[in-house]
Amino acid sequence: MTLYMALIIILSYLALIKCIFFRHRRTLVKSLKRALNAPPSRETNGENIRALVVTAHPDDECMFFAPTIIRLVELNATVHLLCLSEGNYYNQGAQRKQELLNSCAVLGIPASRIIIVNHKKLPDDPKAEWSVSLVSSEILKHIRAHSINMVLTFDGSGVSSHANHIAIYNAVRHLASTGEVPNDCTLLSLVTVGLLRKYISFLDVPLSWFLPSCVCCIIGSKAYKQAKAAMLCHRTQLLWFRYLYITFSRYMFVNTFQTIAQGPKNLKIY
Ligand SMILES: *[C@@H]1O[C@H](CO)[C@@H](O)[C@H](O)[C@H]1NC(C)=O
Ligand SMILES: [Zn+2]
Repeated sequence: MTLYMALIIILSYLALIKCIFFRHRRTLVKSLKRALNAPPSRETNGENIRALVVTAHPDDECMFFAPTIIRLVELNATVHLLCLSEGNYYNQGAQRKQELLNSCAVLGIPASRIIIVNHKKLPDDPKAEWSVSLVSSEILKHIRAHSINMVLTFDGSGVSSHANHIAIYNAVRHLASTGEVPNDCTLLSLVTVGLLRKYISFLDVPLSWFLPSCVCCIIGSKAYKQAKAAMLCHRTQLLWFRYLYITFSRYMFVNTFQTIAQGPKNLKIY
């Protein structure tokens, strides 16, 4: 009898995930437009979204942002990637750069929209303190160069607490507070979830969906294969625990974002 009950509960939970998945496909564009403060319209694509994903290392894009990148590309949004280091911690910079290009090709970001920064002061190193002013000026340069209207990056916990991830969040928050960000540009931070939720794979979908967030991107099994293929491009990183990550990480299936509040804009004085 209890076994029977357990089976019913499990099947209902899986059915709930399926329902959320279909509902999400209809509401994603709406939530993106709301995040952009764009007037609601009947269009169902994201052609006027010009997104900039800002990461610290080659492989961050597929480890943490794959569901979002895949969904944005699918909606025909323009997606740029700014990776602030070559991932040179083990002196594999050149190789990792190529792996990043391959991974992005799988996710749907063309090489012409990828910028990999190689700066002495921005080393791939959790002990290095990245300068807020240097990182924020790099980001601002790219926001301006490509008329970006949506920046997506880490939050204050950086998913894995890596200091380089957190440094990017601090830089974006700095930009937000100074009012240098163009008026039409929304800043979004990827929500870090606790350890328990982090490794329950797609079972986290209902929690991600029902807990309040500004944007929630979910992918199904077909897109998951794409995310997995992108992960496998990072051959230098494929240690045994990376395979566990691919199977169990919730970030392979779902991303949630919060808006980073922006301070007063520079007043134009005529
Ligand atoms: C994206 O663009 C392609 C090619 O122009 C088109 O076939 C497809 O329907 C578009 N997707 C959306 C969601 O508008
Ligand atoms: Zn990283």
